[in-house]
Amino acid sequence: MIACNWKLNLDRDKFLAQHWQSKALLIRNAISEFKPPVSSHELAGLALEDQVESRLVECRDNVWKVHHGPFHTDDFDRDPPWTLLVQAVDHYFPEVAALRKLIDFIPQWRVDDIMVSYAVEGGSVGPHYDNYDVFLLQGSGERLWKLGQFCDDTTALLPHDELRILDAFETSEEHLLRCGDILYVPPGTAHWGIAQSECMTFSIGFRAPRISDMVSRWADQLLEKLEPETFYRDAKRAPMARPGEIHQRDLDRALAQLQGALDQADGSHWFGELVTDPHDTPLQDEDDLAQARAVLKDGPKIVELHPAAKLAWQQDARNIVVFANGECQKFDESVLPSLLILCESWRLTASDMKTALADTGTVALLNYLVDSGVIGVA
Ligand code: SIN
Ligand code: CO
Repeated sequence: MIACNWKLNLDRDKFLAQHWQSKALLIRNAISEFKPPVSSHELAGLALEDQVESRLVECRDNVWKVHHGPFHTDDFDRDPPWTLLVQAVDHYFPEVAALRKLIDFIPQWRVDDIMVSYAVEGGSVGPHYDNYDVFLLQGSGERLWKLGQFCDDTTALLPHDELRILDAFETSEEHLLRCGDILYVPPGTAHWGIAQSECMTFSIGFRAPRISDMVSRWADQLLEKLEPETFYRDAKRAPMARPGEIHQRDLDRALAQLQGALDQADGSHWFGELVTDPHDTPLQDEDDLAQARAVLKDGPKIVELHPAAKLAWQQDARNIVVFANGECQKFDESVLPSLLILCESWRLTASDMKTALADTGTVALLNYLVDSGVIGVA
């Protein structure tokens, strides 16, 4: 994976204290001399591919329409205005993946993917809100962004099967974005971008697990660990005067026993598994896999993180738990130096590999990461 040559002009501490998850921020000239790492032709080419998720949005006479890819080149030969949106472009272009490094002060497992949009003059996906934080980086051309009211699931939407267009938009700010400018939009804030010329926008989107998904993962993990033949107990209970009643003491007893069971089955791997769960199961090319395994046997070569890889780790009392594409395994603490380099620079150089291969724990880690589709040979 290639290095990120761009620098983000942003006061990180101020941003985290005043804007992250709460208040939009316009960052003028966020990246000096920025040049989009993909062209509109490359983007259109990607939208022709079967495995790539792409959409084309257009609005005529106030009727919004969405078409889904894969597209044919003729599809782009249509009356303006329209917008092409291609999801997870960072998974296919390492130069786009490198843009994720700009936001390295937020954990990598919070990043979802980089969506790239190309619009002809007047193109827009309409006024809407997202449930995720997004950094909208202007790649080429000019786009007028309007910011609006705070929205939630009670906010009125236009009737549409797929697009979530707002019924009403109350403009509070307007900004014309040019190449290298970034507009940060927190979850729930209405926004509406309209291309003022042919333009391209890179949306660095963040993922946040739904609380309901967290509860479901947590409960699944708990149920796997709980002893099913343990029952509610109420020895030494006081006599009941009103036999039909569920007394507060009974409820308290039940909650205390539940808490005891939770403490016993303590574990937090469900969180790492959830936040590293890939949207799509990564395609494992058997030749690449065999080559990567051979490299681990043969000695130092460069290994790199796949652009679509989801990798995170956490420290337990005795182990390092490594989460790779939604699964996890425990390793000895000796893996930490190589793991830190991999998470920071997304690669292990030949000299890093020499050190890594000298430690049996790290060799086990590298084999695990190869099998999980997280790393490959450069
Ligand atoms: C766009 O790039 O046109 C839309 C991005 C967004 O609103 O999140
Ligand atoms: Co949006």
